[in-house]
Amino acid sequence: MTTTVDLQSKIPNNVGLSDDPKLQRALERWLPNYLEWWHDMGPTDFEDKPVYLRTAISVERGGWANYEHVRMPDYRWGIFLTPRDGDPTLKCGDDVGAPAWLDVPGEHRNALRRIIVTQADTEPASVEQQRLLGHSAPSLYDLRNLFQVNVEEGRHLWAMVYLLHKHFGRDGRDEADELLQRRSGDVDKPRILQAFNQPCDHWLSFFSFTMFTDRDGKFQLGALAESGFDPLARTTQFMLTEEAHHLFVGETGLGRIIQRSAELEKQDPNGDVRAQGGIDFDLIQRTINYWYTYSLDLFGGEISSNASNFFASGLKGRFHEGRFEDHKAIVGEYALKVVENGKLVVRDVPLRNAMNEILRDSYVTDCERAMAKWNKILVEFGSPRRLTLPSRRFHRHQGIYQGHFFNPAGEFISEEVFREHEPQWLLVPEDNDYLLSIMKPCYEPGKFANWIAPPRKGINSQPGEFEYVRL
Ligand SMILES: [Fe+2]
Ligand SMILES: [Fe+2]
Repeated sequence: MTTTVDLQSKIPNNVGLSDDPKLQRALERWLPNYLEWWHDMGPTDFEDKPVYLRTAISVERGGWANYEHVRMPDYRWGIFLTPRDGDPTLKCGDDVGAPAWLDVPGEHRNALRRIIVTQADTEPASVEQQRLLGHSAPSLYDLRNLFQVNVEEGRHLWAMVYLLHKHFGRDGRDEADELLQRRSGDVDKPRILQAFNQPCDHWLSFFSFTMFTDRDGKFQLGALAESGFDPLARTTQFMLTEEAHHLFVGETGLGRIIQRSAELEKQDPNGDVRAQGGIDFDLIQRTINYWYTYSLDLFGGEISSNASNFFASGLKGRFHEGRFEDHKAIVGEYALKVVENGKLVVRDVPLRNAMNEILRDSYVTDCERAMAKWNKILVEFGSPRRLTLPSRRFHRHQGIYQGHFFNPAGEFISEEVFREHEPQWLLVPEDNDYLLSIMKPCYEPGKFANWIAPPRKGINSQPGEFEYVRL
């Protein structure tokens, strides 16, 4: 394991790929299929345009990002693992402290394969969901950020495919092939998780997706960075450094829309944001409700024996497992609101069975932090409006609340009442029509569409009129 990246190799890497010719050949055979998938399902129509992208050239802290204009198909997708000092150990579970696994233990093979494939499937899925967005970009700055996210999701797929090829033999190679065959939203061959089959037609959804859905990724990757399967832990650790940018794009993108809407609200004699061509706060709230709740589903069931087994065997920890005192979690309970006879009652769940919910808690706290920041923008720009996160029971398709109906405050309601209010609570097709009508591309360097405020700072400290994408 080195910190230097072999950039001469067909597949840039710091995993010593050239020492393993069989693996190298297998991945080099997968490469053209990947490029074909990228061409078919990646961003449309911008393949020949140089984009100001960052590429990893070293995995050391602060030294891994190198910026230059490259055409997306020429991006150096590679395999990078965070280097490890000393001998890794299991971070949690029954055998906490025992040596970590450098290869897949037979008894955990199926579970690990499932964990890795599920994570891997989200990466190409999001690229597919976002493929048309370049045509309605509000600025070259945003266009560049979209493409940066896209190429890095592609690299995350590489990261997972490397693990499948290296550690799972024939099965792993088959899984890697299937990752290029499923399609987001396809009726016959959909992506594995529901949020990754939802359409992402416009930039309000794009920013909400990178804010809320990529943020699920942050917590899943964070939990896998605590894995006793050391190659997975180090792979996901490096992915987290890239993921931070995706979350930045989402959080600041929504923040800039919120700021702009507050400005337009003030400008309009009736406080009507839409009359000024902006995005009204009700619509922003509906979009938050929609993507936040689909993203909550990604954490899985509130009470889960799978989650318990993953934790007990050290396959998956909690977010920042090191900050917890007790890494076995055999004693203790989690007080969970469950549905019983049409009522919400609190039940104590053994801690290990509540691991999904504990990870979801970390996520909710992080989303609340962002929400507070956005509401501060509203105060700063003189708007009386405030935005909120809906209850985690609202609009759920997974776990103990699915099949029941709650309002955004988390109170029981009938299906009839839910359906009646749905257009006020969640994104509806008319919303998409309106958003698409205002989202005309704005490709002039330094200019921004009317519905969004410019960022405070350029990428890599570039000036405002910088040509992030050469069209
Ligand atoms: Fe990713
Ligand atoms: Fe991401």
